[in-house]
Amino acid sequence: MPKLAVVYLSTTGNTKLMADAIADGARSRNVDVEIKSFYDWKPEEAAAADAIAIGSSTFHYTMLPPIEKFVDKLLKAVANGKDGAAFGSYGWSGEAPTMIAEKMRIGGMNLLDPVLRVQYRPNEKDLKECNRLGKDLAEKIKN
Ligand SMILES: Cc1cc2nc3c(=O)[nH]c(=O)nc-3n(C[C@H](O)[C@H](O)[C@H](O)COP(=O)(O)O)c2cc1C
Repeated sequence: MPKLAVVYLSTTGNTKLMADAIADGARSRNVDVEIKSFYDWKPEEAAAADAIAIGSSTFHYTMLPPIEKFVDKLLKAVANGKDGAAFGSYGWSGEAPTMIAEKMRIGGMNLLDPVLRVQYRPNEKDLKECNRLGKDLAEKIKN
């Protein structure tokens, strides 16, 4: 079965809610989904999935160094043309998801639109969009 890896950094659970909704969306389209905090993923292990969604909240107008290091390691291990998505909750500037998306593009991944950014805690509508993104990722890797 094709596999989606969902990786997130979330300090108060906002980005995790997005990650959970992406995972649920993909599962509803019958792909294998593994979802974990980046602390619990080995970058090479996530890189081996058929598609990878990476989410992070924004701190001090950027992504935190540990998730940046994780993404860089993952991209060294990933095959060109693999499908990916970037997402994250933010407060006022929201750079992290855009930075992750840019790194994925430069790293040779095929990035799905949209880069999903949600201000603070995702609402019902935001979670539906996350769910949709999960379904889109699943359809991509099933084809
Ligand atoms: C110390 C600190 C610094 C932050 N800096 C930013 C920032 O520069 N830009 C921004 O958009 N949000 C910033 N935020 C807001 C968080 O990104 C926001 O609370 C987000 O919803 C947290 O999501 P999480 O629970 O997934 O970590 C900051 C929050 C804290 C506590």
